[in-house]
Amino acid sequence: MRIDIITVLPELIQSPFQASILKRAIAKGLVEVHFHNLRDYSTNKHKNVDDYQFGGGAGMVMSIEPIDKCITQLKSERTYDEIIYMTPDGDTLNQQMANSMSLLKNIIILCGHYKGVDQRVRDHFITKEISIGDYVLSGGELGAAILCDTIIRLIPGVLSNETSALTDSFQDNLLAPPIYTRPAEYKGWKVPDILLSGNFPEIEKWREQKAYDHTKTRRPDLLDE
Ligand code: ADE
Repeated sequence: MRIDIITVLPELIQSPFQASILKRAIAKGLVEVHFHNLRDYSTNKHKNVDDYQFGGGAGMVMSIEPIDKCITQLKSERTYDEIIYMTPDGDTLNQQMANSMSLLKNIIILCGHYKGVDQRVRDHFITKEISIGDYVLSGGELGAAILCDTIIRLIPGVLSNETSALTDSFQDNLLAPPIYTRPAEYKGWKVPDILLSGNFPEIEKWREQKAYDHTKTRRPDLLDE
């Protein structure tokens, strides 16, 4: 998979790719991530990428021209499955969306800034708009990093134990059951006996029941879906 990230603040989004699972996925060649500084596509001598709103109103708007130049350049080099815009009014990211996006070959992610982008960018270039939740970030970069993390860890071969993504919370619309490690007793607080029993069919049943109970208490909406 190849991900091209278009941003005015590359330094805000690069570090998550320099550690742990994302770093290993890149080192193994399972994903390529490229950053494009929008200012490099500005034709203006001050390298501006934003301008005042037509009709008045507070806040600057990201201009269409540098975004067009950057996207058109990338599209001349390869075909993209999706051109994604990170925005609080997009579709809210969930595990199903991450699952299907992890199967794509090439995607572009455009990070919004200021008040957002000129609407014509959304109308003519963007194929998918994604929000990471009902709150407003200072820019799309942190959202793009979260989106990339959710996608990349699902690419086959990225997680060392491939089944571990399958038992994550939200896979199958269930939250994950409780987990424990040694010691079996700490300050009198005991690990449930069943987990020490070695009876794996019973352990599996216990986990399913716990996952269901936990979901019913915390996120009953998931059970209705
Ligand atoms: N940009 C600003 N807020 C955002 C959000 N909630 N999700 C995605 N991109 C954003």
